[in-house]
Amino acid sequence: MQENNNLYKGIILAGGAGTRLHPITKAVSKQLLPIYDNPMIYHPLSTLINSGIKEILIITTEEDVGLFKKLLSNGEEWGVKIDYATQKKPEGIAQSLIIAEKWLNGCKSILILGDNLFFGPDLPLLMQNAKNNNHGATIFCYEVSDPERFGVIEIDKDNNILAIDEKPKEPKSRWAITGLYIYDENASTIAKDLKKSERGEYEITDLNRQYLEQKNLNVVYLDKDYSWLDTGTHETLLEASNFVKDNGIKLK
Ligand code: DAU
Repeated sequence: MQENNNLYKGIILAGGAGTRLHPITKAVSKQLLPIYDNPMIYHPLSTLINSGIKEILIITTEEDVGLFKKLLSNGEEWGVKIDYATQKKPEGIAQSLIIAEKWLNGCKSILILGDNLFFGPDLPLLMQNAKNNNHGATIFCYEVSDPERFGVIEIDKDNNILAIDEKPKEPKSRWAITGLYIYDENASTIAKDLKKSERGEYEITDLNRQYLEQKNLNVVYLDKDYSWLDTGTHETLLEASNFVKDNGIKLK
């Protein structure tokens, strides 16, 4: 295998059934819906590019991959190389690292969910620092009022991470784990050993827990200078469009 020790590649996971947004996602992939004046996927794509990533794999469904290719082609317009892969069934976020294993070819990675939007003045710098300081894996957490909808961390008084839980009924903190993850070159190997959860998915939280158990999970706390918008519901989708419009956010 070639030496790829310091090269990070980017993965955008943009599949899924999008059932929560039916009927608008019945015929169109969720990550192609507009966020005000751009398709949703432009946002995670920009986040990766601003972090210095030059090679990106978009993983989506067999049904939708043609539409993503039509929109983004080989990435030339963005100054990066874009490749595509498909996920047969939405069997979990961690499966993306198994699908990407060959493409990663021993590189480290930044994985971002195609429906997660991040904004903040220093985000590119924050990401580049997190990448440079990453040992094992890094997660990015954001304080929310409804943590039970997300992966959630438990921390001690010094902000050391004690445990992580996926959609806990009784969250141990308000810090949600966002859909942005940095991994060393071992992530695909670890992902291959995961067992499916009760909801039938290879959970990204289970992958991150492996890193935590090896004392190799870093946390970046995104304070209120940053905004994390999850576009999982009709309300949050509308909020995201309004946020982009009201803040005059321009991409590219
Ligand atoms: O948004 C952040 C949250 O994302 C994290 O806090 C959770 O820990 C993580 O599990 C995930 O939570 P959700 O259960 O809300 O993820 P969801 O099933 O909505 O999938 C997130 C995106 O990833 C969505 O755009 C569809 C895509 N996806 C998801 C799965 C499970 C795929 O492309 N393939 C999949 O197999």
